[in-house]
Amino acid sequence: MKTIIMAGGSGSRLWPSSRSKFPKQFLAIAGQDTMLQATLARVAGLSDEACSIICNEDHRFIVAQQAQEMGANLGSIILEPVGRNTAPAIALAAFDALESAKGEAPLLLIMAADHVVNDEPAFHAAVATARIHAQAGKLVTFGIVPESPHTGYGYIQRGVAIDGSKEAAYTVSRFVEKPDADTAQSYLTEGGYYWNSGMFLFAADVYLNELKAYRPEIYAACEKAFANRSRDADFLRIDAEAFEACPDDSIDYAVMEKTDKAAVVPLAAGWSDVGAWSSLWEIGDRDANGNVVSGDVLSYNTSNSYIRAEHRLVATVGLDNIVVVETNDAILVAAKDQVQDVKKIVEALKAQN
Ligand code: GDD
Ligand code: MG
Repeated sequence: MKTIIMAGGSGSRLWPSSRSKFPKQFLAIAGQDTMLQATLARVAGLSDEACSIICNEDHRFIVAQQAQEMGANLGSIILEPVGRNTAPAIALAAFDALESAKGEAPLLLIMAADHVVNDEPAFHAAVATARIHAQAGKLVTFGIVPESPHTGYGYIQRGVAIDGSKEAAYTVSRFVEKPDADTAQSYLTEGGYYWNSGMFLFAADVYLNELKAYRPEIYAACEKAFANRSRDADFLRIDAEAFEACPDDSIDYAVMEKTDKAAVVPLAAGWSDVGAWSSLWEIGDRDANGNVVSGDVLSYNTSNSYIRAEHRLVATVGLDNIVVVETNDAILVAAKDQVQDVKKIVEALKAQN
């Protein structure tokens, strides 16, 4: 089994700490290590095979350095000239893995570089279960019991327990990527749904065949981009022109919503997609007033807030449910229940420049 870490996201909702030159997956935002390094540590014991990382060309030295610092067993660092979302990124990694395996199609464990998983043994156990089903030709996703009608996730309706396995895995009756709030609420009310964790396990050829069946233009563009590749030490460059012509789509819409080969393995491992500042409040150590603070912070009569000081003392008085993030050149102050819209600020900044 080969691990592929997807590290090409922009992390714009974690502005101002996360920037396009240095997005959140490369920051130590939820612990001592950077999120990429924590991901490398999470998968280190799972396989003897070298893992690969796929990221934007601009971040190649950050990725190489962070992997080296961890002493990671690294295969390719696949460089995308532009982001075309996760369906093409995984296709490139699958072509690369097939080429280096030179035999039986390898199993791929697809990881996001920006998640938190607290219970590593539970995660490893779920991967072991998923391997059995991936070997049998399934596209396995890891399902999280939903806690709210979050509209930023994929929803998986659990089907029947897969026969012949003593390990818990289910067929997928339906996979719906990012439903609207009413639909998400109806899934919670109905029960039997999981959130898609955004991590997957499948054989490289099974994924590529499904992609070819459902999104042949993505498959063809990636095949062409990979055919014209070049290597420079660990860096694998693909044909920029061919890849730029590739449609932009996520694995969730391109394959998981459409395939009849999906299976879900439940995962209860303290998983969190650190999507927005409120997630850091949710997973953080709260003090007696329900605040999560990081850095030099002094608070009075402040509750249920997330306060992060990176360079200066931050002092707060009389706040409730607020997010404050201080960096050397920008400060964010936001209502905690509206932090999803921090990306609007990033969009506005981009429009200004
Ligand atoms: N290499 C590469 N190239 N990586 C990418 C690209 C890309 O173009 N786009 C995104 N990624 C990486 C991100 O860095 C992240 O680690 C992962 O792929 C998932 O991308 P997101 O953009 O964060 O996806 P999402 O959070 O909106 O949705 C996905 O994750 C949810 C759980 O966190 C979906 O899989 C949902 O169904 C799922 O619920
Ligand atoms: Mg995400």
